Amino acid sequence: MTPRHFLTLDDLTPQEHAALIRRALVLKRLQREHRPHRRLEGRVLAMVFEKSSTRTRVSFEAGMAQMGGHAIFLSPRDTQLGRGEPLPDTARVLSRMADAIMVRTFEHEKIETFAAHASVPVINALTDRFHPCQLLADILTWIEHRGDIRGRTAAWIGDGNNMCHSWINASRIFGFHLRIATPPGYAPEPAILAAAGSHATLVQDPFEAARDADLVTTDVWASMGQEEEQARRRQAFQGYQVDARLMAAAKPDALFMHCLPAHRGEEVAAEVIDGPQSVVWDEAENRLHAQKALLEFLILGEFGKDTQ
Ligand code: CP
Ligand code: NVA
Repeated sequence: MTPRHFLTLDDLTPQEHAALIRRALVLKRLQREHRPHRRLEGRVLAMVFEKSSTRTRVSFEAGMAQMGGHAIFLSPRDTQLGRGEPLPDTARVLSRMADAIMVRTFEHEKIETFAAHASVPVINALTDRFHPCQLLADILTWIEHRGDIRGRTAAWIGDGNNMCHSWINASRIFGFHLRIATPPGYAPEPAILAAAGSHATLVQDPFEAARDADLVTTDVWASMGQEEEQARRRQAFQGYQVDARLMAAAKPDALFMHCLPAHRGEEVAAEVIDGPQSVVWDEAENRLHAQKALLEFLILGEFGKDTQ
């Protein structure tokens, strides 16, 4: 039987997304009240990290522990993958020992190859093209703070990168409007944008994107793997910082989100990320709760039944 993978947000149906959010809220309450929810007793998650991470590693590892399972951290520095063992062989071997595999890597095609040879669920924990786990947390955070997201407007300011692509996918799946402002040459992939139809629009002026928005979000100007482009990007993104003036163009109660890590003084001003509209710490925490619901669904094939 082919396992269910989570390589992009499209790997869950809109109904499954809604159920996942509901379940994440329950799991969050159970965790806060120290009530046991050891649904993954004896289960193992293998975590392959080809890039750095703080939030993703800790949220998956803590999540598996809280659900009674175990997570194994694997880096290319000390696995045979790092010495050139083929991806398909690694996928086959890990599938014989683990109940799910989480992968953070560079080219999105690599995780697709990995998943094609895995016989357990594979979870995308960030590729150069997508970061779907972050969007599960971001949508959960939105819903906790503001209720339904359908019909609302979010503004993406900055690079048309992996996070931007997952926000575009989310706009189509969750039925909100995304206004994207990027400098010339840094637009999202045209096919990803086109697939969202009228849900996502691309402009160049950040103020046009932010006007009357319910949410403003951004990300670093140079992602992991783009370290050498940093100076050139810093130039190209002048005028794209989310600061108090830009936030003032959005609705007065607009939320500010950032997947973190953030560079204060570059893509976001300290006054915004550390200010009252920022929900970045909730976003970070919600990685834990959303991914616990995801792990439960992918490994067990269903969400737990407890509703409060
Ligand atoms: N937001 C996010 O994925 O953070 P890490 O790189 O620390 O995992
Ligand atoms: N766009 C960033 C996100 C980090 C969580 C990167 O890929 O480095």
